[in-house]
Amino acid sequence: MRVIAPADRNAVRRPPGLPAPRPFRVAFAAAYALAYLVGGERRMLRLIRRYGPIMTMPILSLGNVAIVSDPELVKQVFTAAPDVLLGGEGVGPAAAIYGSRSMFVQEEPEHLRRRRLLTPALHGAALSSYVPIMENSARMATRSWPVDRPFEMLTAARSLTLDIIVKVIFGVDDPDEVRRLGQPFERLLNLGVSEQLTVRYALRRAGALRVWPQRARANRAIDAVVMPLIAQRRNDPDLTRQLDVLALLMCARGDDGEPLSDNEIRDDLITLMLAGHETTATTLAWAFDLLLHDPDALRRVQAEARSGGEEFTTAVINETLRIRPPAPFTARVAAQPFPIGGYRVDAGTRIVVHIIAINRDARMYEHPNEFRPERFLGTRPQTYAWVPFGGGIKRCLGASFSMRELITVTHVLLREGEFSAVDERPEKIVRRSIMLAPAHGTRVRFRPRETRCLPI
Ligand code: HEM
Repeated sequence: MRVIAPADRNAVRRPPGLPAPRPFRVAFAAAYALAYLVGGERRMLRLIRRYGPIMTMPILSLGNVAIVSDPELVKQVFTAAPDVLLGGEGVGPAAAIYGSRSMFVQEEPEHLRRRRLLTPALHGAALSSYVPIMENSARMATRSWPVDRPFEMLTAARSLTLDIIVKVIFGVDDPDEVRRLGQPFERLLNLGVSEQLTVRYALRRAGALRVWPQRARANRAIDAVVMPLIAQRRNDPDLTRQLDVLALLMCARGDDGEPLSDNEIRDDLITLMLAGHETTATTLAWAFDLLLHDPDALRRVQAEARSGGEEFTTAVINETLRIRPPAPFTARVAAQPFPIGGYRVDAGTRIVVHIIAINRDARMYEHPNEFRPERFLGTRPQTYAWVPFGGGIKRCLGASFSMRELITVTHVLLREGEFSAVDERPEKIVRRSIMLAPAHGTRVRFRPRETRCLPI
């Protein structure tokens, strides 16, 4: 039994929460889960306003969930010891797609070992070497877009970010090879953003996650392309000179001098492909949605795209991630009773960090619901009041990569042509499985800057 330390003495009450009377607990938990699925983030924000910065809510399939929405409390969550709040356990439904051996769902010390080995591939010299790939992919993407006809930026952004991540990970350039390597990952990713995942997770005790033929097929298809590639690279005398993610992972050594096994490398590749593709594509679609409805901001980003400046564009991406974070929340699971905000959260409770509520805290941001990129000029986002990438030892490992990709790609696209919004107003936020996406995928029109040679 855990003794409550003096500092915890006041922290013996459970956080306020939505009712779930004992005989009807399951019915209430199902109703709240359904209300969230239907009512989405708006409903959640209303509840947060009513119940305060920490509240509990029974949700079918997740149990009693504590929702945290205050920067000070979030700091306590993100800085808690990793054996007190479990990060891997907190991943929830997505773990079924990443797989149980992914570093994303591992606990310490294994998580940190794998994270350290992955870090150089997404930062520093490696990251700089990916910029020409990002630029070239963005330029080529516009060649296939319809001219002056509406299309969905989200769909186009998905193809573009997939193209980039495949090239960066595997060091390939041939379009057929890029397609061959990307396809099986895309299949797994599509399962990850399908409603099937949410439903199967809810029914996991009945075995709905253990037996999932489509997922098994997608994983087999990934093995069929990735494992031979790893074997081939093992015999490549130039491996140490290559800067693609696969080569860097194959050459990485831990503190004990041990390399990653082939299976660990495969799992890391899956993690990067899945974590980095949909999130970045959705943010790109949101950035265009917001920019195309704000002519002044658009002009300033266009000017930077021409001059090579990045200050305002960085502010635009920061502001996009503030009011339109693609991931609505991240979570940790309490391994033991956890005192927070004057309350005590029971062991086993999932603590959900509500990203939008924190990013729109009216005490931290003037006009919190408005798109005002200027607020980030000359100042960096605050660690616990701007959390689109989560925080602590599980903070998004691809944050620098995705910022670089979003800025680079936005500039190239704006240099390549003129964009206009199809819809008069900015898009509504809708929940698509575990992502928050623009309701109609951000419909845009595009006109290339130079006349293209049309095929005869
Ligand atoms: C705008 C784009 C992105 C957003 C908004 C985003 C958001 C997130 C969030 C919220 C988490 C959970 C953090 C936590 O629980 O504290 C996360 C984790 C992670 N992300 Fe991202 N992500 C993005 C792009 C990327 C990219 C491009 C990559 C890789 C190429 C990536 C790789 C990862 C990995 C590996 C983790 C797990 C980190 C760990 O467990 O230590 N992400 N991301």
